[in-house]
Amino acid sequence: MNKKILNFIKKKNKSKIISLTAYSKNIASIIDKHCDLVLVGDSLGSVLYSFSSTKKVTLDMMIEHSKSVRMGVKKSLMVVDMPHNTYRNSKEALSNAKKIISKTKCDAIKLEGGKKVIQIIKTLIKNKIPVMGHLGVLPQSATNFKFKGKETAERKIILRDSKLLEDAGVFSMVLECVESSLAKEITKTVKVPTIGIGASVHCDGQVLVTDDLIGLNKIKARFVKRYSNIEKQINDAALKFKKDVIRSKFPTKKHSY
Ligand code: KIV
Repeated sequence: MNKKILNFIKKKNKSKIISLTAYSKNIASIIDKHCDLVLVGDSLGSVLYSFSSTKKVTLDMMIEHSKSVRMGVKKSLMVVDMPHNTYRNSKEALSNAKKIISKTKCDAIKLEGGKKVIQIIKTLIKNKIPVMGHLGVLPQSATNFKFKGKETAERKIILRDSKLLEDAGVFSMVLECVESSLAKEITKTVKVPTIGIGASVHCDGQVLVTDDLIGLNKIKARFVKRYSNIEKQINDAALKFKKDVIRSKFPTKKHSY
């Protein structure tokens, strides 16, 4: 495991881990200063392209956005989501993960699932590709977005999967919409950091979609907290520009050649 990844793991039980998503350079360079991990999430499918699910996101889309993000991320760990249908078997996963890493220079990839993807994860790690796991709600295969871990049987599967992921060698795992006491138990059980989204304060860190955080994306999910209203600021700026142009107040001599 490389030093950057090891330092990330060492944060467990020492300091809370901060993670946000970025899909482009400008946002990445702002959030990088405050993050430990910047995720190029396949949530970009719904957030930027209005896809009904992340299933339609392609490898090329992830690579192009990640190349942009790479220019903005200087200090955080940069992780890229492997999109749907790009890791159906070990051979396909290895070839696509290598492509993502060589073209984007990211530090690691993330993929969704537990027992089903364990062999794939082992193959990637054997080939020196750092992997982040993702359990709970799995948007690439979800039929509903209800939180996970209410029923005993489901809890057992998620807990088992968290141990399988750890044993396979993931350096961290996202817990998405996992019931609080289960997220707490997983966080206590595994030695690698858990990063929660809708999975309680008990996780080692938290991740949010930046567009949700800043009020650019309109989803109403329980796990979202809006920290600013960028939509209003962009709207106000565009309106002021419009008024200035209509009144011939812009451009002035200062802004002309
Ligand atoms: O795609 C994404 O942005 C994610 C986070 C919500 C964890 O997977």
